[in-house]
Amino acid sequence: MQQNQLLMIPGPTYVPPRILSAMSAPMINHRGPEFQAMYREVQEGLRTVFGAQGDLVIYPSAGTGGLEAAVANFFSPGDRVLAVTVGVFGDRFATIAERFGLQVERLTEEWGRAADPDRIARRLAEDRTREIKGILLTHNETSTGVANPLREIARVREGHPALLLVDAVSSLGALELKAQEWGLDVVAVGSQKALMIPPGLAILALSPRAWQAAEEARLPRFYWDVLAYRKNFEKQSTPYTPAVPQWYALREALRMVAEEGLPAVYERHALLGEMTRSGVQALGLSLLAEAGRRSDTVTAVRVPPGAAVGRLRQVLREDYGVVVAGGQGKLAEEVFRIGHLGCISPMDILSTLAALELALSSLGHPVHLGDGVAAAQKVLAGRKAR
Ligand SMILES: Cc1ncc(COP(=O)(O)O)c(C=O)c1O
Repeated sequence: MQQNQLLMIPGPTYVPPRILSAMSAPMINHRGPEFQAMYREVQEGLRTVFGAQGDLVIYPSAGTGGLEAAVANFFSPGDRVLAVTVGVFGDRFATIAERFGLQVERLTEEWGRAADPDRIARRLAEDRTREIKGILLTHNETSTGVANPLREIARVREGHPALLLVDAVSSLGALELKAQEWGLDVVAVGSQKALMIPPGLAILALSPRAWQAAEEARLPRFYWDVLAYRKNFEKQSTPYTPAVPQWYALREALRMVAEEGLPAVYERHALLGEMTRSGVQALGLSLLAEAGRRSDTVTAVRVPPGAAVGRLRQVLREDYGVVVAGGQGKLAEEVFRIGHLGCISPMDILSTLAALELALSSLGHPVHLGDGVAAAQKVLAGRKAR
């Protein structure tokens, strides 16, 4: 039987029909008044979601392009940066900086643990000569399901001149983030996660300090050069051809966020996260992420002893139409990941848990059908009663 797939991976996420249909509008002149009007609306909406000031830089690109732009624009050859990494994406950010010839000092934690603000504070305090020019940080580590305490880390950075560069690819629009208020210098995001639109845009929010750094930085860049974008801000335009259908999608997505209200969006994600965690734990499965730092956008679940990640995912997909992600890097055989960000509802979580129970049971793992769903329902009922 052909069934609709329930896409429960941490991006690309389900794209609501309203956004898909917005994308099918006819092409317009990207240097004309219709694009300028869209530019203004999109920038206004993004400022709200990022809690940012000024215009943001919007590239046609995967999220990794945003990370590369975050490195290439703000440093000079040989600059030292502190790369705080707790998983695959923190490592990627660090590797990009290495490729660009920066001196990268990695501050790592065991996978499943979050970055420790005190460790970062101690390292910054030791840096009396102010050699550290930037801190690279992943807000939400998608590979481990850990949400780093971004606000606390931003606080401990206060008083040190290093720029704080944040990979918010799997957090922005789902987890609270206030770029200006928290003092984040660069926030990089991809379009295919909580923003609910297809892959293809990377967005960068910059603080005034970051703009200043971009003027002084000497690393080579052309396509990623934020200064080329800034020259076009006044014209409400972009230096190179923008991905117009992606912009249509982004405009529609930002309207949807405004209609739901950002606080309600955050609250929905908190609910989805809690339902997922309660459900899988009620099935006797354990979570990779440490308590207190578990992400509300993605949950990494350890497979039960004797189970193979690939087989479990296959049964979920082929028999129940539920698509979850595998583990990444060294976690490939240890965890599967449930994405619960973007246009996801509590009912999607209940369906996913029901499918998980059935899949585990059919693979011979002892689960009591209904336990996971019931636990998640209790969370939902509790929230509704408030
Ligand atoms: C935290 C984080 N950073 C960066 C990326 C890379 O994004 P992309 O695959 O669009 O390059 C991802 C993608 O999953 C991510 O989750």
